[in-house]
Amino acid sequence: MQPITLALAKGRPAKSTIALLEKTDVQFNDFHEDSRKLVFYNSDRSIKLLFVKAIDVPTYVEKGAADIGIVGKDNILESKADVYELLDLKIGKCKFAVAGKKNYTPEKGQLLTIATKYPAIAQKHFDKKGEAIEIVKLNGSVELAPLIGLADLIVDIVETGNTLKENGLTVLENIEPISTRLIVNKASFATKSTEVQQFISQLKSALEG
Ligand code: PRP
Repeated sequence: MQPITLALAKGRPAKSTIALLEKTDVQFNDFHEDSRKLVFYNSDRSIKLLFVKAIDVPTYVEKGAADIGIVGKDNILESKADVYELLDLKIGKCKFAVAGKKNYTPEKGQLLTIATKYPAIAQKHFDKKGEAIEIVKLNGSVELAPLIGLADLIVDIVETGNTLKENGLTVLENIEPISTRLIVNKASFATKSTEVQQFISQLKSALEG
């Protein structure tokens, strides 16, 4: 068996993913989400785990620095990485949505300004609708933008909806559901097919169990 490298996104779903891996008897005994360590091995060292920033996981996998990645669909879509997406882990379920002030109605022919952490996703959504937009790229607290007139609307992740609600905003349009997915490097899928398939089927059984 060849060793495989797994890139796992830091952040909200990391703990659930590790718990799921443990159900498949893949344990990383020294893993702790608050640890500053970035590389971990399971007991027989057949799996190397790289703990990386979520938006970088698709790049690690596309470039072959990792064979497998576990990361949110949001980052897969935004990165546009050329990888295989093979499994939905159904962790971290949320959605992409267009949101704004309640009853917001743009003027006819108005060029909408959209604030977002996800410019590629926002652009694709409005391109599909044939609407021209101007994007304001932000890195967080996106909900502020419509409140202070920095943007007309936002494209962002909605999980519980609390952030929107507490800022007097509402979902105006759903874009697509998001959850944690397993992605695979295209070359690894061919050259490490046994290991990759085994890893995926173990995860599938853990999900079903
Ligand atoms: C995300 C997202 C929303 C919020 C949605 O932000 O960008 O702001 O969570 O969650 P909710 O629907 O459960 O309220 P994050 O917590 O990553 O912080 P950020 O604004 O600094 O990016």
